[in-house]
Formats: sequence, structure tokens, C-alpha cells
Amino acid sequence: MSMPVGYEKYLAFFTDALDKMCKEMRFSPDILTESMRYSLQSGGKRLRPVLFAAMLDACGCDYEREAAFAVALECVHAYSLVHDDLPAMDNDDFRRGKPSCHKRFGEAHAILAGDALLSYAFDLLLREAVRGEQYLRAAKILSEAAGAEGMISGQSYDISFTGKSLGKEELITVYKRKTGALIAAGLKMACAIAQKNEQIAAEYGENLGILFQLTDDFIDEYGESDEAGKTLGKDKRADKLTCIKVFGLERAEALADEYADKCRVALRGFDGDACFFDRLIDCVRDRTK
Ligand code: IPE
Ligand code: IPE
Ligand code: MG
Ligand code: MG
Ligand code: MG
Repeated sequence: MSMPVGYEKYLAFFTDALDKMCKEMRFSPDILTESMRYSLQSGGKRLRPVLFAAMLDACGCDYEREAAFAVALECVHAYSLVHDDLPAMDNDDFRRGKPSCHKRFGEAHAILAGDALLSYAFDLLLREAVRGEQYLRAAKILSEAAGAEGMISGQSYDISFTGKSLGKEELITVYKRKTGALIAAGLKMACAIAQKNEQIAAEYGENLGILFQLTDDFIDEYGESDEAGKTLGKDKRADKLTCIKVFGLERAEALADEYADKCRVALRGFDGDACFFDRLIDCVRDRTK
């Protein structure tokens, strides 16, 4: 993914915060800490925490003070990938160019690594929530986005809709929840802390999340495995409900353009400099990893 100006700065902030937290993590037995670190530190674009930091910055807040929220958000994302790759779900052997967590540590330890990452995220959130009303609200946003009204609901639909012939409404429901929820969460959490722009962030984030999943489907079908770092062609083999299955490539590409436009429209009226978010739309639309 080509990154908009500023991405590197937020990425560097987040990488530092994450490395520090991973160093401090000392759970026993060692395999638990190792499997958690492996899932967090094996690369990745860090899109969600970058969005969180960029939104705080755009709202005039000091993002460096809010590192714990950024780490909590990435812990939830990392856990979602560990469980998504499990044999009972997508059964994927590779993630970010490396063996997936269950391939490296075994299935039982991968389940536990995911459980521990999710619990750890809530521990971080609770510690921040006592700082005041807006921090409590930010914590609540992530707990909703992670759970049965958000990402987990989307994953449940994803599994339930596998092998079925369904339409646009079902497709967008899955994408909005399995992917849109966590992408929007970072943006909404930042706005809750800043106490402005939350509605705009919610709309932009949801549409960007849908666009992100549309392009994830394109990569799975037409991408380069070396670049994507995961096994490709698996959606078709598993008969997943994807935009290509529902629409065919040409109409799916048009749908992605439609969602890129929705993102642009959502940014109207933003109180602050929305340049980073505007540029990011094309980066997500054209991404190859
Ligand atoms: C992968 O997310 C799962 C989806 C929601 C499509 P990312 O593509 O953000 O994964 P990493 O963190 O960069 O590896
Ligand atoms: C994953 O969607 C969404 C999650 C909540 C993890 P996919 O199953 O399409 O993601 P990849 O392709 O494995 O990264
Ligand atoms: Mg999946
Ligand atoms: Mg998957
Ligand atoms: Mg995919």
C-alpha cells in the first residue's frame, strides 16, 4: 500500500509504543508471551493505530499521550487475525509472509494467544478509562466494535454465508462488521478523546472499512502472494461470499469506486485538516497488499 504523507510518522510512534509494550509483557509459561509477541510483531500495515494517531493529530490532540489505546486496538486486530486463520475458520497457513500463529505454535496455543491478546486489550482500556469521561467513552467504542455487535458479528456472518449465493445487502453487512467495525473504531476513539468530529469519523471509517475489504477480496483473487504475505485464491476455493462472487470483477471495481466516493463525501464538514484521510482513500482503493 503506498502511504500518504504522515503515515511514516504515525507508524514510527506506534512501532515504538508496541515494542515497549511487548518488552514489558512477561507472562508464563514463556510460550504464551512468545505467541502473543509473534502475533503482534510480525509486521502488518498498522492501519488501525495509524488512523487513530492521525485522527488525534487532525483534531489538535497529542497522540503520543494515547499510546495505550493504539496498542489495545492493534491487540484486538492481531487476535482477530490469529483466530481468523485457525483451521476451524479460514484455515490459513501464512500471515504476513510467515507461518500463521497456529502453524508456529500449534492450534491450542494459537487459540490461547488470541484469548490473551483480547483480554490484554481490555486491561489496557480499563486502565485508561479511569482518566475521565472521554476515555471511558473511547474504551466503550472499542469494546463494542470488537464484540457481538461488531467484528465478531461480521465473522459469524462470514462463516454462516460461506457456500451460499447472496446479494449486495448481505455482502455489505459482513464487510461493515468484520472489517469496518475495527477500522472505524480507531477513528471514533480518537474523536471521543478529542470530543469532536465523531459522527464524521464514524461514517468515513465505516466506508473506508468496506473499501478495505473490497480491495482485500481483489488481492485474494488477483494479487501477488509474495507481496500480500498470505495464501491467495482461498476465498474462491472456500466459496466465501466476496464482492467478486456477487458482482464479477467489473461491477465489483465499480462498487469500490462508489465506496471511495462515499469516503470523500463523509469528510465534508470535518473540523480540522482532513488531508491525510482524503489521500488515504486512493491508497486503500489501489492497494496491492
Ligand atoms: C487483514 O487486515 C484482515 C482484514 C480485515 C482484511 P490488514 O490487511 O490490515 O492486516 P495487516 O495487519 O496489515 O497484516
Ligand atoms: C478477515 O477477513 C476479517 C477479520 C476480522 C480478521 P479475511 O478473512 O478476508 O482476512 P484475510 O484475507 O484472512 O486477511
Ligand atoms: Mg476470514
Ligand atoms: Mg481470512
Ligand atoms: Mg481476505
